[in-house]
Amino acid sequence: MEEIVSLAKRRGFIYQGSEIYGGLAGTWDYGPLGVQLKRNITNLWWKTFVEQRDDMYGIDAAILMNQKVWQASGHVGGFADPLVEDLVNKKRWRADHILEDAGIKDVAAMSIDQMNQVIADKEIKSPDGNPLGKIRQFNMMLRTFVGAAQSETREVEPGVESFDYETSSVSYLRPETAQGIFVNFKNIVDSFYPDLPFGVAQIGKAFRNEISPRDFIFRLRELEQMEMEIFINPDNWQAEFDKWLNLQKEFYLSLGLPESKYHQIEVPAEDRAHYSQRSIDTEFDFAIGQKELWGLAYRTNHDLMAHQKMSGKSMEYRPKDGGESFVPHVIEPTFGVDRTLLAVLDNAYTVDEIGGEKRAYLKLPRHLAPVVAVVSPLLKNKPELVKKAREVYESLRQSIDGRIMWDDSGNIGKRYRKADEIGVPHCVVIDFDSLDNDDVTVRDRDTTEQVRVKIEELTSFLKK
Ligand code: GAP
Repeated sequence: MEEIVSLAKRRGFIYQGSEIYGGLAGTWDYGPLGVQLKRNITNLWWKTFVEQRDDMYGIDAAILMNQKVWQASGHVGGFADPLVEDLVNKKRWRADHILEDAGIKDVAAMSIDQMNQVIADKEIKSPDGNPLGKIRQFNMMLRTFVGAAQSETREVEPGVESFDYETSSVSYLRPETAQGIFVNFKNIVDSFYPDLPFGVAQIGKAFRNEISPRDFIFRLRELEQMEMEIFINPDNWQAEFDKWLNLQKEFYLSLGLPESKYHQIEVPAEDRAHYSQRSIDTEFDFAIGQKELWGLAYRTNHDLMAHQKMSGKSMEYRPKDGGESFVPHVIEPTFGVDRTLLAVLDNAYTVDEIGGEKRAYLKLPRHLAPVVAVVSPLLKNKPELVKKAREVYESLRQSIDGRIMWDDSGNIGKRYRKADEIGVPHCVVIDFDSLDNDDVTVRDRDTTEQVRVKIEELTSFLKK
């Protein structure tokens, strides 16, 4: 992981957030190559699930929402992680992570009291070796105030502060994009009156005040999600659930990720989110171990019912065959953008040996690579080579989808190394023979083999 983090920074994929001020934990900034890779992933997702389906409706809802949304959804009351404090240095930790790291089994099934008991019985210490305080639930939503009026906090139970919801201007940075979809359910039905099942999809930022963000972009405080809520008749929930499990796997494979690193894990009842009746996580073999990549949940009609009750607006769907109206149930396939990008980077990171020299490079699939090809004149100081190379460069920029990069720095070997490190599948070099024969050298990143290709055939060669 350290090597990936170092390459990502050195080559302009991902930088630490607010780095010149010492950073801000849980935030990372995508650099020029990172943002292109991210776009390639989100565009593939949008194309697969929205553009190529006629039962899917895309939206882009506001990040700030009426606080009642989060009261209705259960996040105000229930979106919490167990927090424990080091009694000496006051650092705060995820209690369940500390117990798991101490080798305790089935932590997810434990109540706060049980966790406190285990810490006392086994004399478990903080990662800094100090005694721990009592565990308490810590709500992970990031609060903010909208407008000029600020509200006061008050103690709702000993040690737990809450806002005065009746009068306040409190809002939250959304912890999931899903609620933006639920509150627009009625709008989509009114505008399009689709048949069930149909889905609503959204890509956007979400925010979680994680107690201990860690592992690079794996656990963030500011993250991005690609989510769909599939509205269904509850009679069909099992079949729809299975269908979306398969579609998630197909998308996984379309990212060029290998079957061998893919795991479907049934989430036990005690570990499921408060809204879910069944969940299957897609886990991936990251460099940091096998961990959750995406989720699939059967959210029943929990959210629509809750919004119907809180808002007083009907969330019923009237079947077109004249059947009785009902509140649809929901299957939710959810995908973390950052974790997807981390899986792609992690899987692409390859070390081999070329001519006795160690080479670290990114074996990115062509359709995700942030740069599709680099074009270079063999020598920078030969105007006739530069002119010809510029012509090839400009023509490829018109004919190829994706980024084409110009590079005339250093010697050709160094250019190849740099291109390999950022995962460019092909390097195109214009040399003296090109002037006579109208052809170029194309070097393949993975095999390092070089072939001559006629300039007029270059676009179709690179598209293959
Ligand atoms: N709407 C359902 C939902 O938000 P979740 O399992 O809490 O479910 C969905 O999150 C996905 O978002 C996860 O599978 C993961 O890919 C990503 N995710 C969640 N928390 C994250 C975090 N702190 N940092 C990075 N990605 C995260």
